[in-house]
Amino acid sequence: MKLLVTGGAGFIGSAFVRMMIGAGCARELLVLDKLTYAGNLENLAPVAGDPRYRFVRGDICDATLVEHLLEEFRPDAIVHFAAESHVDRSILSPAPVFETNLRGTFVLLEAARKHGLGVFLHVSTDEVYGSLPEPLEADENFPLRPSSPYSASKAGADLLVLSYFTTYRVPVIVTRASNNYGPYQFPEKLIPLMIGHAMEDRPLPVYGDGGNVRDWLYVEDHCRALALLLEKGRTGEIYNVGGNCALPNLEVVRRILRITGKPESLIRFVADRPGHDRRYAISSRKIQQEIGWRPETDFEEGLRRTVAWYRENAGWVARVLSGEYRRYYEQNYLNREAEIRRLVRS
Ligand code: NAD
Ligand code: DAU
Repeated sequence: MKLLVTGGAGFIGSAFVRMMIGAGCARELLVLDKLTYAGNLENLAPVAGDPRYRFVRGDICDATLVEHLLEEFRPDAIVHFAAESHVDRSILSPAPVFETNLRGTFVLLEAARKHGLGVFLHVSTDEVYGSLPEPLEADENFPLRPSSPYSASKAGADLLVLSYFTTYRVPVIVTRASNNYGPYQFPEKLIPLMIGHAMEDRPLPVYGDGGNVRDWLYVEDHCRALALLLEKGRTGEIYNVGGNCALPNLEVVRRILRITGKPESLIRFVADRPGHDRRYAISSRKIQQEIGWRPETDFEEGLRRTVAWYRENAGWVARVLSGEYRRYYEQNYLNREAEIRRLVRS
């Protein structure tokens, strides 16, 4: 297959590119990525010299560029990862989320409609279903109840993508995965942030009471699901992709402390995320039954591998944490700590 991969320099996109090139599953592969704070060419270094791989720095909202790439490259499939992917950032600054996640998806769909292709694989999230009380699990027909600007933008994009199938017969597939973890994840997300803080003996900031439940999926399992769907997925369909590993955040943080050999006294409960969804839970029965995919990586094993990767790649971490990240960190965490100090005094 000739693949156009948007957001291929990010965490999941780069894992997908490394896997597709490494396993010889792509005849040619073109990455289109704006290289925002979250995009990093170092993530693609393992494939950089491969003749099947090309990289274009550009914005998915740039209709002229996107049209030109489709005209020139003529992909069999677009695998669409590019997004503003962080909930906390979407709360602090919602505008870029709607620009990239909604308008960018629209630009890609319009180009796909004009040029035609085999599959438009839209990589979405379980967050679109919102928070579910026990013991509910969302299947693909479950109502959408997004809570954050990020999840609302993804839900909107999902609906737009599906409308292009119904209206124009653009052959789309929508996937909704749970929380990914693994190497190369930007250290603003729970697992890499907590690993970094534990390794440096800094406090681990747990939002609220730490009882929020997330379902953890090793990134390579997610990428394998996407590769199988490109081959066997039915167009016009939605597929949930879950890790079958639901855990409260506090338990995840405790396991990180155990693996890094650090004390639980490093845990700090800080002010909660506004609109914080309590529990995500999806059923992956459809992809298991139709496609034969299931998650293979045991969480403890995946977490150990992830901790080992961050230990061995301190240079990568230091480089991505410079510059813009510092401003975000202060905005997101220093206010939280000040708020807690105020609460303790009152
Ligand atoms: P990420 O933030 O690590 O990477 C996003 C990539 O998109 C970066 O390389 C960035 O430079 C690029 N990008 C951003 N705006 C762009 C634009 N306007 N034009 C071109 N490129 C742009 O994200 P991730 O965690 O790898 O997530 C990838 C996709 O998977 C997203 O669509 C996200 O919603 C979805 N998803 C993520 C998770 C998760 O747990 N991380 C789970 C389910 C679904
Ligand atoms: O569910 C899939 C989604 O998972 C993806 O669509 C998103 O792109 C991805 O960012 C992720 O969203 P979350 O908000 O669940 O991930 P995050 O790692 O930011 O937070 C995980 C949980 O940990 C959440 O309940 C908030 C909590 N948390 C997070 C951070 C960064 C903390 O308690 N402290 C923190 O410092």
